[in-house]
Amino acid sequence: MNQSNRENLPRHVAVIMDGNGRWAKNRGLRRVQGHEEGARAVREVVRATRELGIPWLTLYAFSEENWKRSEHEVKALMRLLVRFLEKETDEMMENGIRLQAIGRLEKLPRKTRNALREAVRKTDAGKEMVLTLALSYGGRQEIADAVAAIARDVALGALQPENITEESLAGRLYTAGMPDPDLLVRTSGEFRISNFLLWQIAYTEIYVTPTLWPDFGRDEYLKAIADYQKRERRFGGARE
Ligand code: IPE
Ligand code: IPE
Ligand code: MG
Repeated sequence: MNQSNRENLPRHVAVIMDGNGRWAKNRGLRRVQGHEEGARAVREVVRATRELGIPWLTLYAFSEENWKRSEHEVKALMRLLVRFLEKETDEMMENGIRLQAIGRLEKLPRKTRNALREAVRKTDAGKEMVLTLALSYGGRQEIADAVAAIARDVALGALQPENITEESLAGRLYTAGMPDPDLLVRTSGEFRISNFLLWQIAYTEIYVTPTLWPDFGRDEYLKAIADYQKRERRFGGARE
């Protein structure tokens, strides 16, 4: 991507990384092998985001509903996450990438939580880009947690119901302090949100590609960004 193409870049890209199971099935492989191959795509997208100078990248890695999958698959995903963190933390540190995670993290197995805590701690000086992993994440659960936090503040007398604003709620989401995504990419051709960042995507531009996540890479990612750059965002306003 040359200099002129760096205008009008999104500040925050969010990705629903979908299609690992189908990718594996198409090849007669086990679902878990699709997840393993998906890790490569994660690496490419993280690198490209950093190269472009996009400061926020949020990846949907495991939903609150994904706990319904077989114990075998869940365990494999957790193991893969630990392996990914162990492998990538050094490169993240070198490139000024700060890692964080959002979701009901207390539900993750202890080993995964420890690996996550370690990677978050090691990368906490990163100033160039924030990589957020959504893990055991559900948009509805996030909103419910924020509403509970508001209710507690009201009960304590620290907040008056008439003073509750969009900001009161946004500031109690897991994403407090983060800008809303400008671009949401979903792979594998499904036109749905699957409980991802429900509040935050009110005016996000959506890009769906039929490519399955393990086949997704730098070139496809740049295509999604270029598509975004051509869009006219109106936020409910009218054209001049
Ligand atoms: C996305 O791939 C990875 C996770 C949800 C963890 P899937 O595992 O959902 O793959 P498909 O949708 O079954 O192809
Ligand atoms: C969304 O994909 C969750 C992640 C990518 C982590 P799913 O495969 O779980 O979503 P559905 O079931 O197709 O809606
Ligand atoms: Mg899926």
